[in-house]
Amino acid sequence: MKNLKKDLLSIYDLSVEQIWGLVSSARKLKKSKYSDKLKNKTIGLIFEKPSTRTMVSFETAMVQSGGVPLVLDTQKLQTKRGESIYDTSKVLSRYLNALVIRAFKHEFVAEFAKYCSIPVINALTDFEHPCQILADLMTIIEKFNIKSVKELKKLKIVFAGDSNNVFNSWLAISAVLGLNFVQLGPKKYFPKKDLLQKASEYAKKTKAQILISNDINDVKGANVIYTDVWTSMGNEKEADVRKKEFKPYQVNVDMLKKANKNCIVLHCLPAVRGQEITEEVMALQEKNIFDQAENRLHIQKAIMFALIK
Ligand code: CP
Ligand code: NVA
Repeated sequence: MKNLKKDLLSIYDLSVEQIWGLVSSARKLKKSKYSDKLKNKTIGLIFEKPSTRTMVSFETAMVQSGGVPLVLDTQKLQTKRGESIYDTSKVLSRYLNALVIRAFKHEFVAEFAKYCSIPVINALTDFEHPCQILADLMTIIEKFNIKSVKELKKLKIVFAGDSNNVFNSWLAISAVLGLNFVQLGPKKYFPKKDLLQKASEYAKKTKAQILISNDINDVKGANVIYTDVWTSMGNEKEADVRKKEFKPYQVNVDMLKKANKNCIVLHCLPAVRGQEITEEVMALQEKNIFDQAENRLHIQKAIMFALIK
């Protein structure tokens, strides 16, 4: 696999070969938990929003690889008192080997990436969640025993829900790999035109089939139904309205019946049972969804091994 760019901020930072390489590496690492690949290396974790999976999987990945994760409490850093991102980046680059950041604004992470000499990894912003989507892809590859990108293109992947960070990364990976990808959701929440434009430019080359639809029947033939919360962190004020508007797109048994017989359901979690996914579907698909969560750990290792020199 060719060297990755310095940072992982977006799925668009990766080529087809690099995406495939990261997933393959994560699948190998899943078989051998411990190594000393990151011995004497230290990463910093800056999280402006809550996290269970991303935070704990990065910390654990680091420890299992012989390195040390440092959780940098945003309330205790001097940035809280106004120290610039420029100075913070320059200083942290002298101590750490990588920085993992979850932020409200994508620009916050991008600015760190600009000034840091060490790799910066996007651990979720309002714009993308690349580490999540790589673990999702790994899960799909495992579940369907996929051997090549060509085989992956034969699956129909349906994302039921909001045009949020997770969706944006799914749109990007579909465009880059040339997948058959459908989003189901209310018109009001369709993706921004510039994002669709970028995806369709890639799709011209990769032959990705991307459909944005408000017709629930477009779930027909789905091999994977994917969902995420209707209200993302930071949008809480809109929760009541969204609850009503997204209701027809809930992942429930009726929706599953319309899909392919072997269809699996994935959810990045945390889930709001009874909203975007029913209790029943969560129970039926529990194994797939928790395998997906476990894969976060393996993909974080693959990402860090590829980025940290
Ligand atoms: N899926 C995900 O990123 O979960 P956390 O918010 O718990 O990290
Ligand atoms: N879209 C969700 C993902 C959580 C992992 C959010 O941003 O809150």
